[in-house]
Order: sequence, then C-alpha cells, then structure tokens
Amino acid sequence: MQLLNADDYRAAARRHLPKGLFEYIDRGTEAELAIADIRRSLDNIRFRPSVLTGHAGSNMTTSLFDRTYCSPLIIAPTALAGLVSHDGETKLARVASKLGIPFCVSTQSVTSIDDIRKGAPEAELWLQLYVWRNRDLTWGLLDRAQKAGVSTLVITADTPLSPKRDYNQRNGFSVPFVPSLRGVWDVATRPKWLCSVMLRYLMTSGMPTYAHYLAEFKTAITRAAIAEDVKIESAISWADIAEIQKRWSGRIIIKGVLSVDDAIRARDMGIDGIVVSSHGGRNLDVALAPADVLPEIVDAVGAEMLVMADSGIRRGSDALKYLALGCRAVMVGRLPLYGLAAGGEQGALDILTMLIDEMHSNLVFAGAKDIDALRTAGIA
Ligand SMILES: Cc1cc2nc3c(=O)[nH]c(=O)nc-3n(C[C@H](O)[C@H](O)[C@H](O)COP(=O)(O)O)c2cc1C
Repeated sequence: MQLLNADDYRAAARRHLPKGLFEYIDRGTEAELAIADIRRSLDNIRFRPSVLTGHAGSNMTTSLFDRTYCSPLIIAPTALAGLVSHDGETKLARVASKLGIPFCVSTQSVTSIDDIRKGAPEAELWLQLYVWRNRDLTWGLLDRAQKAGVSTLVITADTPLSPKRDYNQRNGFSVPFVPSLRGVWDVATRPKWLCSVMLRYLMTSGMPTYAHYLAEFKTAITRAAIAEDVKIESAISWADIAEIQKRWSGRIIIKGVLSVDDAIRARDMGIDGIVVSSHGGRNLDVALAPADVLPEIVDAVGAEMLVMADSGIRRGSDALKYLALGCRAVMVGRLPLYGLAAGGEQGALDILTMLIDEMHSNLVFAGAKDIDALRTAGIA
C-alpha cells in the first residue's frame, strides 16, 4: 500500500509493531483528553490566503541561534525510538542530518549519545535531559553529551512523574522488558519486528533498554535497588536549572512550558529557548493545548528568546499553524516514529520529506513567500 499521509504511516506502524509498543507511542494518558484538545486547537485555525502574489515558490529558511536551516523543524526527543526500529535513534540522527535539521536525543534512548554520534558523525545532536534524583549521575550524562559534541541541552520540565497509562498496564509493556504471558504473545504476533528488532539486539547488545542508565538498571532483577537513583526528579525546580547553567557551557532550552510566567522566568534567567508543548498529550491530560497559549507566550518573550512549539503535528499545515502563531521552529515526535516503524531509516526520511513538501505547498496556496509573510497575512 502506498503511504501518502500520516494516517497511512500510522496504520503501517500499527501493523508492524507489537500492540504494547504501538500504544506506548501513539496514545495519551488517562482519558486522552489532551490529544483531542491538541487536535481541536489546530483544526480550528484557518489561514487567510493572498492571491495573485506573483511568486510560485516558498522559502522556509530559518535561523536558530547562529545557524541557518532549510526547514524550521527539529526531530523531538522520543524515548525508546530504538525499539521501533533496530538502532532507531542513529537512524533518526542520519535522517536529520540528510534533511539539515537537528535531532534531539532522549535521555531514555536505547542507543547512547556516544554511539549515536559514531553512527551519525555529521548530525547536529541535541540532548533532552530528565533530571534524575541522583544528581551526580545526571551531571555524568552532561559530561558524556559534551564529549559527544552536543550543542544544545533540552531540559524537560513537564514530566515530574511517570504518567498513568492504563493501556500499558493492561498490555504488559514495560522497560526493562519483564516477560509476561501477554507480553510474549504480543511480541510473537509481530514476527517481522521480533526478528528485525528484538532478536537483532539480543544477538548483539542484549536486551534493549535505556542506554544512559546504569548497567544495574538494565536487568529487571537488580532494577529495584537502583531505580531510585534514576527516577525523574519530581521536585525539579528553577534552582536545578541555575545549577545546570553553571555546569553546561552550551545552549539550554526548557521544554514543556505552557504559561507566560514560566516563559518570562526562563527568559530572565538567560535561558536560550523554550518549547511550548503539552508533550504530545502524553503527560497532564488536562493541560492547555500549546496552540491556545502560544501567541501570548510569543508576545511576552518572543523578541528576546527562541520560542518553539510541538504537539499534534500530522500535516504540513499543522506545522505552519504553530509557525503562524509566532514560534520560530517546531518539533515533531510521533511522525518520525511512524516513519521508522513503516520503513526504517528510509520511512522516517520519507515521512519528514512529505511533511516538508506539505509545508511548502500550503505556503504557496496561502500566497506567502515565506513564514514571515504567513505570519503577517495571518490567521483568519
Ligand atoms: C514515544 C514517545 C516518547 C517520548 N519521549 C520523550 C522523552 O523522552 N522526553 C521528552 O522530553 N519528550 C518525549 N516525548 C514527547 C516529544 O518530545 C514531543 O513533545 C511530542 O511527541 C510532540 O507531539 P507529537 O508526537 O504529536 O509530535 C515523547 C513522545 C513520544 C511519542
């Protein structure tokens, strides 16, 4: 079947992946209200097109910090991308490199930042940081990232706890993988994934798990003893951000901001950027949708700091809507994962190329020669 839009890729991902893993990627939390709200917030936006503009092309060139990019896109950090396809994170890094965009590696990646660097020497790598309860381990990860040539640290601020995902409790999905009858049956029903991903890991590096965590965490048996150390810090605060500023010489971005006050506080501390995000509807199920708060945040801090956004981008027009609301770049999370599942590295490249093509054609239809023009012509 030809894959012509995000829904086609999503359906292919559903066919290929074990149910527990597909649902982990695809679904939200609790009553899944946030996902619906993100969709509503984007679907309600319309552009006011200009006609007879006399230009046939569109230019999406964007400057972020000191670099210029062809497209205002960043591959978002997604935990366990390496379970979707063997070496999935390295594949995403190479895709980002081909498209000339950054790839933000998750703290919870299956391949470590050093190994991703080896597999994608040209890629612009950012690292997403979950602050662990054990700060020494956290600072160790920063050192590792610095050595791997990471330019930008993205501190996730909206995940003080593991969210409640009833469906994953029911279908037995967990990391490290704890064998259960249901889990084994789930995996057995996806023989292609089993051979191309799971068995490949088992025959090379062993049971896939979080690569940046201590070796002891990687086996289910010893996990309980050290799990406290690498639990995400629930009490993370602005003081932690100040501490990280002292320890990290690169740029710092805070991800998961949805309030003007927090954005102002970040700006006043000298933070380089924020991502206005509701984590793709995967955390607080009753969080505001990013599109509903983005304009006021951009008004407050957009002139002095880089404002990005994410959540719910499935078509080029969704990305353009966030950009028209004033952010300078967008992150995409699930789309590249659907692409990876459907067709490995090529699939991820294809789905993001499709997204960029859709962005271009929507700009042309809107009569905007570039994103600034779209912002000015604006939202109806
Ligand atoms: C499977 C999956 C895992 C994720 N893991 C992380 C993570 O480790 N750290 C983080 O900051 N955000 C994580 N996110 C959130 C994404 O970075 C991003 O905010 C979100 O996916 C954007 O919404 P979208 O998927 O609709 O594009 C994850 C998202 C998904 C789908």
